[in-house]
Amino acid sequence: MEEVEKKDNTKKQLNFLSWEDAKKEAKKFLQNFTLKEKISLMYGSALNPMKRCVGQIEPIKVGWFNKGVKFAGIKFDDGPTGPRFQKGLTNSWPAPINLASTFNKELVYEVGKAQGYDFYHTGINVALTPCINLLRVPQGGRIFEGYGENPFLTGELCVELIKGIQSNGVIACAKHFIGNEQEKYRIASNSIIDERTLMEIYAEPFYKAIKKGDVGCIMCSYNAVNGTLLFKNKLMNEILKEKFGFNGFIISDWYAVNDDSPDSVNNGLDINMPGTISKLPVVYGILNPSFWSKIPKYVEQNLIKEEKINETAERIISTMFKFDQIKYFPKNEYYSQNFITEESKKLNRRVAAESNILLKNENNILPINLQKIEEQNKKYKIALLGIDAFKGNFYGQEPSFSNYIKSKVKADGHLTNGYGSGTTTYNYVIVPYDGIKSKINNFKNIELIPYAKLDKNENEDIETSKKIAEICDLVLIFVHSISGEGCLKIANSFGDRNDLDILHNGNQLIEEISQINQNVIVVINSPGPVNMDWKDKVKGIIFGGFAGQESGNGIADVLFGDVNPSGHLPFVIGKKEQYPSEINGLQEYDLLSSVKNVKIDEFKDTVKYDEGLFIGQYWFDKNNKIPTYYFGYGLSYTQFEFSDLSCNYDKNLKKLTAKYKIKNIGNYDGSAVALLYLTFPSEVENYPIRVLKGFDKYLLKINEIKECLYYSLF
Ligand code: BGC
Repeated sequence: MEEVEKKDNTKKQLNFLSWEDAKKEAKKFLQNFTLKEKISLMYGSALNPMKRCVGQIEPIKVGWFNKGVKFAGIKFDDGPTGPRFQKGLTNSWPAPINLASTFNKELVYEVGKAQGYDFYHTGINVALTPCINLLRVPQGGRIFEGYGENPFLTGELCVELIKGIQSNGVIACAKHFIGNEQEKYRIASNSIIDERTLMEIYAEPFYKAIKKGDVGCIMCSYNAVNGTLLFKNKLMNEILKEKFGFNGFIISDWYAVNDDSPDSVNNGLDINMPGTISKLPVVYGILNPSFWSKIPKYVEQNLIKEEKINETAERIISTMFKFDQIKYFPKNEYYSQNFITEESKKLNRRVAAESNILLKNENNILPINLQKIEEQNKKYKIALLGIDAFKGNFYGQEPSFSNYIKSKVKADGHLTNGYGSGTTTYNYVIVPYDGIKSKINNFKNIELIPYAKLDKNENEDIETSKKIAEICDLVLIFVHSISGEGCLKIANSFGDRNDLDILHNGNQLIEEISQINQNVIVVINSPGPVNMDWKDKVKGIIFGGFAGQESGNGIADVLFGDVNPSGHLPFVIGKKEQYPSEINGLQEYDLLSSVKNVKIDEFKDTVKYDEGLFIGQYWFDKNNKIPTYYFGYGLSYTQFEFSDLSCNYDKNLKKLTAKYKIKNIGNYDGSAVALLYLTFPSEVENYPIRVLKGFDKYLLKINEIKECLYYSLF
């Protein structure tokens, strides 16, 4: 039996169905389900939630000694950088903010497909990704899990990720619906958003995920919008199911359901996850029941209609039929699969390199041409400074009670991800030192002098670093900042960053070194915008985001010119006070926001989305604010010339077409990113000055000209 299953699995041709056919199959399948069995599909168990998945719907067993399986169950697992809690066996992909920096739709699809492979073979039915909340405030803890500030960019790219994941028979889950743009009091905050802003900005990625991506699952957020917590908010029915025609099922964020009112089911929530009231790992239904164990009673009392239960069960089962999960789904393929392959390493490295954003390149200090330096036949010294260049301890923490409660995790080395449910346990990590050393090793005239030391205060050793910089021809400095989900405390904040400064005295290190050495290149690893008051004093700046297991190889490829950088900023970089709002992060451990089984009676924070449609760059444009670097910014080692733009809008088809030419006029092959903005007529009042409505990426050889065509159906 084992043999057959394995064989079947490697050769398996997935048989995807249309929604119509999937619904028919679901109806048939559910014919002999009792009401109780249908209800059992609607909430999970907390049994072993941390064992290879973060939650599950129990199987339905029948017959003598429960030997028959009527329903095999559903396993859910995070998240945005690959399967979580897999004991370091699967890949640790670059964070979604890096996928966004590539502006490369095909590449994001490829990553989705590869992640889908990892999820499928770890037996995960539903991958809890993509996270499509927007970078509204740069301090927001989870911005690295998302695709930046722009609803159009986020929408288009999440569609590719969803399609990629689902092409491998895994259901993707777009999260967190909606208005969840900060960590502070995330389960006790109320986001106040007007209807237009909600629909045109924050709902747009969900619209695309449904309409273009055919996403199978959506997770509602913890917070409230306009006074009602999302798990029982009618926006689920009204926007997702009625307006957008969502066919799949909606699940709650973990422990978000915190009362037993029938409103949650009636307003559109299909599954309560993980289902039990508290985090205690005891047998559900006895010591740790569910707020939803009252559903049978509500059905009797007609507070929830039986048809509603039927509809919910059909949504769940038809989604599983659509992605061919009912007849066969691998339980767990750990022992028969090799997840870390040459191919997966290559793809990781490609994204890591392609997501680097070249922000400054004075006098073409980059790329560093090792061959040319070697040929000069004299000693050349390169200093590698900053703790972020070296290996630390922060590569996916398995959850432990002390990690969560004492929050003693440090960000003490090269950062490849933020913290929280968007992380994975690493199999291996290539840090910048590894990547750079392996390039320089072959050159006898070039010497790498690596140095960083962490003292008790986690500060850079500036004095020693200066001595090294003095004797070197070129200095590379790696700095970082970190944020994450509001469950750990790192760098003095829970989730959200308190400020936009880089950590560990990084600013001072750069300032002081740049006074000693004229050839300084800074690489920043961070979830989003940082302050760069030193920007005019250094020659080169690269924004590296959080680039996953191959991070160090990716940056080395760019520094030494094996890859021509083509990343662009998926957010505007400004100073904290230039953005419309900020978060005064939590300094102390907040029990209410962390242990989520507490009933919330009143909101602890009101988050007013008063800037309306003017998110990110749109706010800077409207208020004539000069950013440090604008949205979409990113240099290349070559130059591109854009010309001959002509546009046409077909009113009947609602189709916009843009034609233009791009020429590579520089000295390197490279990829150009074209961004198409629309400016609306002046009668349209109070609207962003220019709105992103299209983008594409093209690889051009030196002197090559491409005639490009972009079209979009509104
Ligand atoms: C997060 C979700 C995640 C879930 C399961 C929650 O705390 O907000 O994004 O999918 O936990 O780990």
